[in-house]
Amino acid sequence: MQEHILLIGSGGREHALAVALRRSASCANLWCAPGNPGIAAVAECVALDLTDHAAVVEWCRNHAVTLVVVGPEVPLRAGMADDLRVAGIDVFGPSKAAAQIETSKGFAKDLMARNGIPTAPYRRFGADEHAAASAYVAQHALPVVIKYDGLAAGKGVVVAMSTSEAQAALDDMYVGAFGADGVVVEGFLEGQEASLFAVCDGKNYTVLAPAQDHKRVGDGDTGKNTGGMGAYAPAPLVTADVLQWADEHILRPTIAALAADGMPFVGCLYAGLMVHADGTSSVVEFNCRFGDPETQAVMAVFDGDLARLFASAARGVIDTDAIVSVANGHAVNVVLASRGYPDAFEKGVEIRGIERAMQDTRITVFHAGTASTANGQLVTAGGRVLGVTAKGVTLDEARRAAYAACDVIEFSTKYLRTDIAMKGLA
Ligand code: AMP
Ligand code: GLY
Repeated sequence: MQEHILLIGSGGREHALAVALRRSASCANLWCAPGNPGIAAVAECVALDLTDHAAVVEWCRNHAVTLVVVGPEVPLRAGMADDLRVAGIDVFGPSKAAAQIETSKGFAKDLMARNGIPTAPYRRFGADEHAAASAYVAQHALPVVIKYDGLAAGKGVVVAMSTSEAQAALDDMYVGAFGADGVVVEGFLEGQEASLFAVCDGKNYTVLAPAQDHKRVGDGDTGKNTGGMGAYAPAPLVTADVLQWADEHILRPTIAALAADGMPFVGCLYAGLMVHADGTSSVVEFNCRFGDPETQAVMAVFDGDLARLFASAARGVIDTDAIVSVANGHAVNVVLASRGYPDAFEKGVEIRGIERAMQDTRITVFHAGTASTANGQLVTAGGRVLGVTAKGVTLDEARRAAYAACDVIEFSTKYLRTDIAMKGLA
């Protein structure tokens, strides 16, 4: 079947999905709402009010949309997938109920505890339990991890090395910037992180190339947590044995538990894992959507008909024949950020050199936070500005090509990590 697809979102993840959907043999039409200046090269960008689900439904009907792919978590939390399904439109993206696996850390931790899925020990504290959380933290072993119980774009987590740092994080979440819905306090997990993406149809699923993100802002995993400063795939850390263990002990029981609880997961289930030295792993977090920037690397090595894969999952029977290979070669993604991110940064800074960087056919430059001015100049518009993604026969080749392209792209506030994918080469 030929698909007429509306993709929802505007970041690097959506740009990567848009390129892969556009490449799909079964993709007849691709729109993206709202999209961004990079996505505009592969899809028709449409200005829709994404909070007005009735308007989105009407737009889909008027344009004979056969499949909606929802990129980010915010519309999923707001029930966009539910409202589209009620209207008879197929959606790749979970219901509001199933999306709680990401939107409520407490929901996710409770589901894991009930089903014996390995994760760090934890306690939840409600919006009015600042004092109880403080008392608990005061006697907790170090390091201790403090998480805001809601969506915080990867920035609501503090790994505290001292009790005073932990108390300061609680103060920030309860009385400072966040205005807590509550917090989760959990134990520290040792190991190396990996991101697994399971494309799910509610019951069955298939796993794409394992990736590794780099969440801290600074080289050597120092500084604040960010949404992710770079990624690569496939990650050699996730050997066949590691993947099989995680599949059996984490993915399969989680997807089964959601279905058994009456909220089957349709979409991309993202398992953020801590892989331990013995090859077992624990869940650091679940997300209800693809990871960003990991998806930029995962899609670069994906070979197959992504539109057919997503459409089949959305319709309840995943068609793995749509996949030729989940890992054809290696890909490295380096995020070019605005200096200052994840705190305050300047916007509206002129960007040059993207076309020159893409003269190397191994390179795709995904737009994450860019805008076009009235006279057509590309400028920065976000903390993560571009995702420079290179494909290579080896990880080393991809890494070298990515950094060479990063050198060619210029904006005065450009900031990047210089050690993306080094762990994969070690
Ligand atoms: P999250 O938003 O839950 O993924 O947390 C962001 C980052 O904080 C993770 O990618 C880890 O690097 C770190 N982190 C979160 N929870 C833990 C934990 N229990 N132990 C060690 N590191 C953690
Ligand atoms: N890169 C981490 C995330 O998408 O949550």
